[in-house]
Amino acid sequence: MEIIIVPDAQSGCAYAARMIEKLIVRKPKAVLGLATGSTPIPVYQNLIEKHQKNNLDFSQVTTFNLDEYLGLDPSHPASYRYFMRENLFSKINIPENQIHIPDGLAHDISAHCAEYEADILKAGGIDLQLLGIGGEGHIGFNEPSSSLTSRTRVKTLIPRTREDNKRFFKPNEEVPHHVLTMGIGTIMEARTIVLLAFGAAKAEAIARSLEGPLTARIPASILQMHQNTVVLLDEAAASKLEMIDYYRYVYENKCDWQRVK
Ligand code: F6R
Repeated sequence: MEIIIVPDAQSGCAYAARMIEKLIVRKPKAVLGLATGSTPIPVYQNLIEKHQKNNLDFSQVTTFNLDEYLGLDPSHPASYRYFMRENLFSKINIPENQIHIPDGLAHDISAHCAEYEADILKAGGIDLQLLGIGGEGHIGFNEPSSSLTSRTRVKTLIPRTREDNKRFFKPNEEVPHHVLTMGIGTIMEARTIVLLAFGAAKAEAIARSLEGPLTARIPASILQMHQNTVVLLDEAAASKLEMIDYYRYVYENKCDWQRVK
C-alpha cells in the first residue's frame, strides 16, 4: 500500500486523474471502476479537461460503477446514473454501451448482480478502481460487517451513511435504505486501487483502515491485503495516522522512475 499525503484535495484528485490518463494512454481499452459521492468530482473534472484540451480518448474505455440506490429511478438527481452522466459521461467520448452502473430498478436483483459480475469478467477485469471511504470505513456500499469476500449484491445502509448522503436528496425525501454494490471481493480483484480521502471527517476511518487490524468492522482495512493500492490523503484525513512521518519519508525518498508525473 502506498500512502501519499498531498497538500489538498485538488492535488490528490489531479494525481488520481494523471494515473487514469497514463493508464488510458498505455491501454486505450482500459477498464475503469468508478465511484460517486463528493470526493471524486475533481478527478472527473480533471479527466474532462484532459479530454477537451489533450484529446484524452475514452472511445474504447469501459467503466463499471461501484453502486446504486435500490428502487431509485435513473432520472432521479440523486441516482448514481444521473450523477455520472452529469459529472463525467456526458462530457467525454465514451459510448453508452461501454458504461455499466448497477440497475436499482432491475426486476430480478440477484440475476442482475450475477450478470454485473460476469460483465466485469467479460471486460477482462477492472484495471483501476477509484474509491472513496465512508465515515465508518465502507468502500462501495459495503458497510461494517460486510463479508470481506462478498460479490455484487444488495446491502442495507447504516444510519450514518444515510445521514451523510442526505445532502444529495431534497429535504422532504427519504434516503433509500438499500443499495446495490460491488462486493469487497469484487473490488479486491481490481489490478490497481486508488483510495481518496479528504477532510477531518475521514481521519478516524483512515487510521483504522490503514493501521488498525484487518476486520469486517472496518471494510476498507481489507485494502491492506491488496497488492497495488495507492491512498491519497490530505493533511486532515491523514491527521490520525500514527506513522504519518514514515509515509512522508517513504514518498519523499521514492525512486524517481516510480513517480506519477
Ligand atoms: C460511492 C461510494 C461510497 C463513497 C463514500 C464517500 O460510489 O461507493 O463508498 O465513496 O461514501 O462518499 P463522499 O465522497 O461523498 O464522502
